[in-house]
Amino acid sequence: MDRRKILLDADVGIDDAIAMLHLAGRSDVELLAVGSVHGNIPADLAAVNARHLLELCGLDDVPVAYGARQPMAQPLATAEWVHGEDGLGNTNQPAPKRGPVAEDAVSQILRLTREMPGEIDLLAVGPLTNLGLALCLDPELAGRVRSVVVMGGAIAHEGNASATAEANIWHDPEAANLVFGAEWPVTMVGLDVTQVTRLRTKELAEIEAIGSVRSKFALKVLSHYLDVYQRTFGTRECPLHDPLAAGIVADPTYMTEWLDRAVEVNTTGPTRGATIIDRRAWMAPAADARETRERNGGKDATPPLVRVPMKVDGPRFVADLIASLK
Ligand code: BDR
Ligand code: CA
Repeated sequence: MDRRKILLDADVGIDDAIAMLHLAGRSDVELLAVGSVHGNIPADLAAVNARHLLELCGLDDVPVAYGARQPMAQPLATAEWVHGEDGLGNTNQPAPKRGPVAEDAVSQILRLTREMPGEIDLLAVGPLTNLGLALCLDPELAGRVRSVVVMGGAIAHEGNASATAEANIWHDPEAANLVFGAEWPVTMVGLDVTQVTRLRTKELAEIEAIGSVRSKFALKVLSHYLDVYQRTFGTRECPLHDPLAAGIVADPTYMTEWLDRAVEVNTTGPTRGATIIDRRAWMAPAADARETRERNGGKDATPPLVRVPMKVDGPRFVADLIASLK
């Protein structure tokens, strides 16, 4: 089987952790390396959490690199109230056996894509600072990557970090503009699909019935997350932001409806961090415009087209997520 080679960039909080468990449990992906980034928690703690997750999954040899400790153009802001002081729902996990590597996350992205040009899929489930910095250091990076899947943004859905902005984009809008403006195939998995793809009572019971080390860990860290979302939804359920993006990088057929559009991130005023696309029907590019552009090497004068899923096969994904915890 052609396993996707995934380079993960994450601010390892609770849903990032579930995404890592999912990747580790899929036979169609190979996790090459992880880079940490600020966001849910400070970047250095995210790196420790990534190491812990890898060791839990028996992936001790997958390297973790420290990444950007602050955004490009705004102060650091973290979200311990959502993810816990430790980023893993205040579950007091033991310290990992190994520490992160000496190489930083940006250098790791540049080196691995030089060693394996055209083979790597980048999965970014935190703020896009590392990817933006990597593009600044080496604009040719875009041509060496097979695809980029970003968890972030919101088109028709309201924001979660502000009225209009999704958290990962809100944490570093300048970096997001660099990523959406580069000539590489980006899929932006936003709140339109992640907020409605949820674990509910039935699925939580299915996870409990598994009884594996990974399923028990998942339930433990999810407890805090479910408490937070219960206050929003009124019921004990939670969205699957990062896990869905992880699923889509492994199997893009979870996406059932999408738009291919230029994405611009607003960087000023109260809507800073909002992801804007032109949804007017008469402005829509041809259905195959993104693929044509990829074939032509993106020499157009127009901005790149980002794939934005608007509907996914949620039940199939959730079933696969549960199976991956066995
Ligand atoms: C995103 O923000 C973070 O809180 C989550 O880990 C996810 O990546 C959801 O908006
Ligand atoms: Ca995240």
